[in-house]
Amino acid sequence: MSFAPVKPEIHHPPLKIADDTWLIQQMQEAAIGPLWVYLHSLVIKGKEPIIVDTGTPANREQWLADVFSIVDPGDVRWIFLSHDDVDHSGNLEQVMEACPNAKLVTTWFMIERHTGAFNFPLERCVWINDGDSFSAGDRTLQAIIPPLFDSPTTRGLYDDRTGTYWAVDTFALPLPGPMNDITGLPAEAWQGGMEMFNCMNSPWFKLLDPAKFERHVDRTQKLEIQTIAGCHTPVIPRSHVDAAFQMIRRIPHLEPPPQPQQGDLDELMHCIATGKQYVWEPAPPPNGS
Ligand SMILES: [Fe+2]
Ligand SMILES: [Fe+2]
Repeated sequence: MSFAPVKPEIHHPPLKIADDTWLIQQMQEAAIGPLWVYLHSLVIKGKEPIIVDTGTPANREQWLADVFSIVDPGDVRWIFLSHDDVDHSGNLEQVMEACPNAKLVTTWFMIERHTGAFNFPLERCVWINDGDSFSAGDRTLQAIIPPLFDSPTTRGLYDDRTGTYWAVDTFALPLPGPMNDITGLPAEAWQGGMEMFNCMNSPWFKLLDPAKFERHVDRTQKLEIQTIAGCHTPVIPRSHVDAAFQMIRRIPHLEPPPQPQQGDLDELMHCIATGKQYVWEPAPPPNGS
C-alpha cells in the first residue's frame, strides 16, 4: 500500500473573487460521510503579485498549474504564509524555488516551528507579526489574527485595496458539494457546520472569557471587509459578513461537539469492505439529554 497522499479526482478551477484576486481551490472528501471540505489558497495579482498560502502536497501538480495560470512565477514578489499547517504550507518549497523574486512573509516563531520541514532562506524572509503591514506596490496588506485559529503562528491578511480578508481557518465548515459562495448553502447548514468545525479546530474555545473574545472579534470585524476568503469556506460576500461574525461570536457559549470514535471506525471499515456508503451518526450524549 502506498502512503502517499491521494490526488483529488475533481479539479475545481481558480475562481475570481475580487479585483486582481483569485481563489485557488481544492476539495477533499471527508472519510466519515458524503461531506467535502475546501482547501483554498489565494493569488493577488497587483503591481507586486502575492501568493497567500501554498496548498497541499496531495494537490501539488494542479495547485502549481492553477497558480501559474494566473501569474508568471518570475513576477511573484510575495509569498504570505499564514501558519505552518500542512494544508497551508504544503508546496512552500516548490513555490519558493519557482518564484526566485519572491520574499517569504513569515514570522520568527513560524521558522522555529517549521524548520524541521523546510530550510528557510533568511535573506528572503520578512517577519510580519500580528498588526504589522507590508506594502505590495498598489496596496497595503495587514496581518491580523483571525477570530479562531489552530496554530500559534496564525495571522490573517487584509488587503486594503479590495477589502478582501484572508481568514485562514476561521469560518471553516463541511459542505455537501462545491459552491462559489456561501449563499449557496441554507442558513441552518451554514451555522451548524461552522459551529462544529470551529469548535473542533480551536478546542480551547471553552477556556474563553466571552467578553474578551467579543473584543478580539471586534478587531477583525471593524476592518472594512468586502469579501471574506478562507481556506475551508466558500467565499463570504459582503452581504453575509456580519452574519458570519455573529455565528463566530456564539462559539464560546457552545459545548464541544461529538467526534467519531473507535466504533465508528469499525463501522467505516465494514462499509468499505462491503462497498456501502458510510454516513457518521453522532452517538447520543451519555446522559441521554
Ligand atoms: Fe490550521
Ligand atoms: Fe487549515
